[in-house]
Amino acid sequence: MTTLAIRGGTVITAAEEVVADVLVDGEKVVALAAPGVLTLTADTELDATGRYVIPGGVDAHTHMEMPFGGTYASDTFETGTRAAAWGGTTTIIDFPIQQVGGSLREGLDAWHEKAAGNCAIDYAFHMILADVNDSSLKEMEALIGEGVTSFKLFMAYPGVFYSDDGRILRAMQRAGETGGLIMMHAENGIAIDVLAQQAVERGNTDPRHHFAVRHALLEAEATHRAIQLSRVAGSPLYVVHLSAHQALAEIASAREAGDNVFAETCPQYLFLSTDEVDEPGFEAAKYVCSTPLRPREHQAELWRGLRNDDLSVISTDHCPFCFKGQKDLGIGDFTKVPNGLPGVESRMDLLHQAVVDGHLTRRRWIELACATPARMFGLYPRKGTIAPGSDADIVIYDPTAEQTHSADTHHMAVDYSVYEGRTTTGRAETVLSRGTVVVGGGEYLGTKGHGSFLRRDTCQYLR
Ligand code: URP
Ligand code: ZN
Ligand code: ZN
Repeated sequence: MTTLAIRGGTVITAAEEVVADVLVDGEKVVALAAPGVLTLTADTELDATGRYVIPGGVDAHTHMEMPFGGTYASDTFETGTRAAAWGGTTTIIDFPIQQVGGSLREGLDAWHEKAAGNCAIDYAFHMILADVNDSSLKEMEALIGEGVTSFKLFMAYPGVFYSDDGRILRAMQRAGETGGLIMMHAENGIAIDVLAQQAVERGNTDPRHHFAVRHALLEAEATHRAIQLSRVAGSPLYVVHLSAHQALAEIASAREAGDNVFAETCPQYLFLSTDEVDEPGFEAAKYVCSTPLRPREHQAELWRGLRNDDLSVISTDHCPFCFKGQKDLGIGDFTKVPNGLPGVESRMDLLHQAVVDGHLTRRRWIELACATPARMFGLYPRKGTIAPGSDADIVIYDPTAEQTHSADTHHMAVDYSVYEGRTTTGRAETVLSRGTVVVGGGEYLGTKGHGSFLRRDTCQYLR
């Protein structure tokens, strides 16, 4: 095996911060020791003096090549995982889709085909249940056995991914029996579609109306309903891409009651708001995602939820569509703008900026972006920490480097950045995936196909 040593950096995990040397043998971390204790010379020696040494990011919510609204998310597994690596993320969990009338097996196989041999970093899968029926409910157990242990349901998008309450209840019951985790897109899609139709009929066709019709109360109502259904079914619940403070209040009260209820938010809800979409015109399409951006007043509550653990994870919901040729499918009708934003490359840096700005501590940054998503989705301690036995997914992070976010310099396959022109402090300098340097010296050094499929255990938080 080849050995690699990272010397003199501040190793930050969710549990501690310590100046230490890290020794890697092959794909695994084998030792952490006070500087000077590991006297052997490794095959590769990396100096991390003045740098942070952090676990590679775990992004638990991405959509590479996702079909949506007559087009496909513009990042492939190849381009999207490469961009993730540039940004210090070394694991993604993506979402295969069950087609209506199709099986989970067909959906999962199709995603394995898209990803296998193409990824720069390791990847795992959740499964989207778009057609809950006797047969797909039966299949859930087999998927759990294959390491696909979480299932996303939609209370939004009627006629596409939507499940009614009866289907949701049945899927939750099955998850309760089998150890699966239900992930919920919690928005009242039936009511939203009525409001959207009314808006279009009134001639309100600009994309800024997307934000008006996806009312915060309809996110809160769906979140409340999902929690009650999960209580009745006896299953855990993980609410995805939470953006409204009223929805957060529902999560907080369920957690206070001791329920196995968890939620994630995303950088776009922390760093962007409806201020970006105030102007009439089509530019607002760049920000169209669901749940939508909210007025800036929601952000203080989200930061508070992140500090007190009512929000446990920050994922990206990376689902990019180019402005030209994809978002513009919605010119003249905002309901036809494909929903989703790019973000897989910028998450670790935006969250480091949150540390700089005083919203999060350094350890909480690592907990939210690495350790908790790994635990939530059955990957810990293989991923999400730096400890003997862990995969050597490690980032040497320069906390002083300044960068200006731009479509001209990012590596995601999308023609705009939602953070265009914004400057943040901190940047991944060297990125290791299972002991291999995939980014270093300002260059991408990885290979397509280095990334492997990860079979996950079940959620490690359930009481
Ligand atoms: O707007 C979004 N979030 N697009 C991706 C699909 C989803 O609902 O997560
Ligand atoms: Zn969703
Ligand atoms: Zn999503």
